[in-house]
Amino acid sequence: MHSSVMFLTDSPSGAAYDARHSTRGNNMKTSKLALFAIVLWLASAVVFAWFFVMGNTIQIEGQRTAIVLKPAERELALTEMRGLLSSTQVILEGLNKNDMQQVAQAARASGMGSAADLNPALMAKLPISFKELGMSVHHAMDDIAHDAESGKPASDILNKLSNTLSGCVACHSAWQLKSE
Ligand code: HEC
Repeated sequence: MHSSVMFLTDSPSGAAYDARHSTRGNNMKTSKLALFAIVLWLASAVVFAWFFVMGNTIQIEGQRTAIVLKPAERELALTEMRGLLSSTQVILEGLNKNDMQQVAQAARASGMGSAADLNPALMAKLPISFKELGMSVHHAMDDIAHDAESGKPASDILNKLSNTLSGCVACHSAWQLKSE
């Protein structure tokens, strides 16, 4: 774009002069447009980054921050939660009976596979620290399944489950789920 303007500046002919002027005018418009596009792009990148980190949240009374979701999204997240509680109960029961197959199955049911079907619109509303904590709990459940399958002693698995539950406690003391 620049080099064509330089070329026209060197040309003495009237036609080229007109062309130069109209090209300059267009050029100004183009660069203003380009600047506008860049500003717009930057602004949306900032908004996107903000949402990526913060999610769709509001400050509420007390210690916790509320994540604002559509009623169906909140229900989906709470269903996943009830799945985690149910897995925890079945894992404990399995450990008590020394039934490692039951332990592995129950843990796997709350592993990464159970989080994968969360939709992208919901994912975008969750703050990054919430997602990290959630994923670490799902990973831990997969670890527990793996340990149970590979014959680790029940006491090791109990220890891992107990550490995992501190992730549940930490998250519950920081966040709430609110309907829009
Ligand atoms: C990443 C954050 C996070 C983690 C990790 C997490 N939870 Fe939750 N859980 C929540 C939030 C937020 C709520 C909604 C609380 C509210 O709105 O007051 C919730 C709600 C629940 C509920 C209530 C469900 C209902 O139907 O109302 C249960 C049960 C639950 N969680 C169990 C667990 C268990 C068990 C674990 C760990 C194995 C766990 N959660 C890990 C964030 C988390």
